[in-house]
Amino acid sequence: MLYDDRPPPLARVGPPVHMPRCVEVNMRTIAVVSQKGGAGKTTLAVHLATEAARSHVALIVDTDPQATASRWGEWRRGAEPEVIDCGAPSLLAGKLAKAADLGAELAVIDTPPHADAMARQASRLADLILIPCRPRAFDLAAIEATAELVRSSGKPAFVVFNAGPPRAPLIYREATSLIGDAFRLPIAPVVLPERAAFHHSAAAGRTAPEHQVEGKAAGEIRALWAWTCAQLDVPPPRRTALVGAAA
Ligand SMILES: Nc1ncnc2c1ncn2[C@@H]1O[C@H](COP(=O)(O)OP(=O)(O)OP(=O)(O)O)[C@@H](O)[C@H]1O
Ligand SMILES: [Mg+2]
Repeated sequence: MLYDDRPPPLARVGPPVHMPRCVEVNMRTIAVVSQKGGAGKTTLAVHLATEAARSHVALIVDTDPQATASRWGEWRRGAEPEVIDCGAPSLLAGKLAKAADLGAELAVIDTPPHADAMARQASRLADLILIPCRPRAFDLAAIEATAELVRSSGKPAFVVFNAGPPRAPLIYREATSLIGDAFRLPIAPVVLPERAAFHHSAAAGRTAPEHQVEGKAAGEIRALWAWTCAQLDVPPPRRTALVGAAA
C-alpha cells in the first residue's frame, strides 16, 4: 500500500471519555481514626462519604474487623457510596491505588479502635485525618494515644467533637483548650452534637440527611462536609448551611 487512506484517529484533547474527573483531580483520602471505641468513627466516615457521593465518586474503606460500615453498606442495598473492606494494613495502599485507578475521587477510611497498626497505616496514606471525640473527660484523656499516632504521620489532623450536648458552650470551650494545650491538635470548627437522627438513620442503612433532609443533624453534616472540602482543596458543595459551629 502506497498510502493509508483511513481517517486519522481522533485527536485526544482531554482525558479519555471513560475516565472520570479524578484522573485530573487525584483521589483524596480521609482517615477517620480514634483509638477509643464508640467515638463516632463509623458515623463520621459513612456520613462524609455519603455527602461526597452526591457530587463525586466516593467510597468507604472499612478496615475494622467489626465490619460496621460494611454492614451499613449492605443495608443500603447498592446505594452509593460503595463500601469495600481491607483486612490488613499491608493491603491498604494497594486497595486505595486500585480505587483511584477505577475512578474514585474520595476514599474515606474507617478504622478500628485499639488497632495501632491499621490506624497508623491509614493516617500515613491519608491527606486528612479526622479524630471524632466525645467532649467528655474520659474520652478527652483517651485522645493522647491517637494524638501521638497521627502526629507521627505528619498529616493534617483535626479533632471533631461528636455526640456532645447540643448547647453547652462551656463544655466545648474547656475541651478545646484541653486538646490544644495537652495534645496540640486543632479542632474542626463544626461539631456534631448528639442527635437521634444518627441512631434512626443508621438502622435503616441511611444517613441523617437522608433520614431528615432539613433536620439539625443534616445541616451539621453538610457544614462539616463543606469544611472538609476546603481542607482537601476540592470544590465545595453548592448548598452549604454553616450551622453547628463550635462555640
Ligand atoms: N452525633 C451522634 N449523635 C447520636 N448518636 C451518635 C452520634 N455519633 C455516634 N452515635 C452513635 O454512637 C454509637 C457509636 O458510634 P460509631 O459506631 O460511629 O463509633 P465508632 O467509633 O465507629 O465505634 P467503634 O470504635 O466500635 O468502631 C452508634 O450507636 C452511633 O449511632
Ligand atoms: Mg466503628
